Amino acid sequence: MNRDELRQQVAAIRWFHRIDLGGGVVTPGLDDTPAKLARIKMPTDLTGKSVLDIGAWDGFFSFEAERRGASRVLAVDSYCWSGEGWGKKAGFELARRSLNSKVEDREMEVLDLSPSIVGTFDLVLFFGVLYHMRHPLLALEKVSSVTKSHLILETKVDLLSLRAPAMAFYVGDELNHDPTNWWAPNISGLTDMLRAVDFKRFDVVAQPGPWLGRWLKALRSGKAPWRESQRGRVTIHAWK
Ligand SMILES: C[S@@+](CC[C@H](N)C(=O)[O-])C[C@H]1O[C@@H](n2cnc3c(N)ncnc32)[C@H](O)[C@@H]1O
Repeated sequence: MNRDELRQQVAAIRWFHRIDLGGGVVTPGLDDTPAKLARIKMPTDLTGKSVLDIGAWDGFFSFEAERRGASRVLAVDSYCWSGEGWGKKAGFELARRSLNSKVEDREMEVLDLSPSIVGTFDLVLFFGVLYHMRHPLLALEKVSSVTKSHLILETKVDLLSLRAPAMAFYVGDELNHDPTNWWAPNISGLTDMLRAVDFKRFDVVAQPGPWLGRWLKALRSGKAPWRESQRGRVTIHAWK
């Protein structure tokens, strides 16, 4: 496929991720994926590691893990890949072809993950999915069952002023007008949930800034300022 054909095919797809396909072609994703990559602190060298990317969508993080030397990468997704969501699987497939990638794919639901179906992986990526789960602790149990040692979890957090473990429940489309968003814990709630599914060691590598900055940003957002100031995103590395 020449560069013009690639550009045409890229233009026909609704992208979530911004993926550099080479030759000056970058997919026009809604997400600021390079900024997310910087936040999540994926190990720079994954030589010989097996990696599972859960909720992979257009596959940016799967292709990045392969680029960093992973020997096997499996990308799984269900909602968007099956066409129920805002995007589809066409982006993943076009990016994989263009990058000459060997990333494997499997259309499957988080709650169906098990070692007997997909095996176990040195590194598991679980970004932007937990708040979409109606049963988050069960989801983490499934994620843990396929993690040999290291999980990187990126998700929404809420109730940030509470020190005790807690989790917010979203009625209808309260969170970002998206009825597929259900729950967001605070950071201690998230850590305790991970502990409950057998992770032992944690490192929070990205978290919302101090209260005053969150409050000022919330005031400018036009949303209910108290609720908004309680929310943010976190990236946590967890090890068995
Ligand atoms: C917000 S996007 C995050 C995409 C990517 N992981 C990232 O962080 O850039 C959420 C992804 O999770 C997928 N997803 C949502 N619920 C899922 C489920 N129950 N099982 C598998 N994938 C799911 C969606 O299809 C979508 O691709």
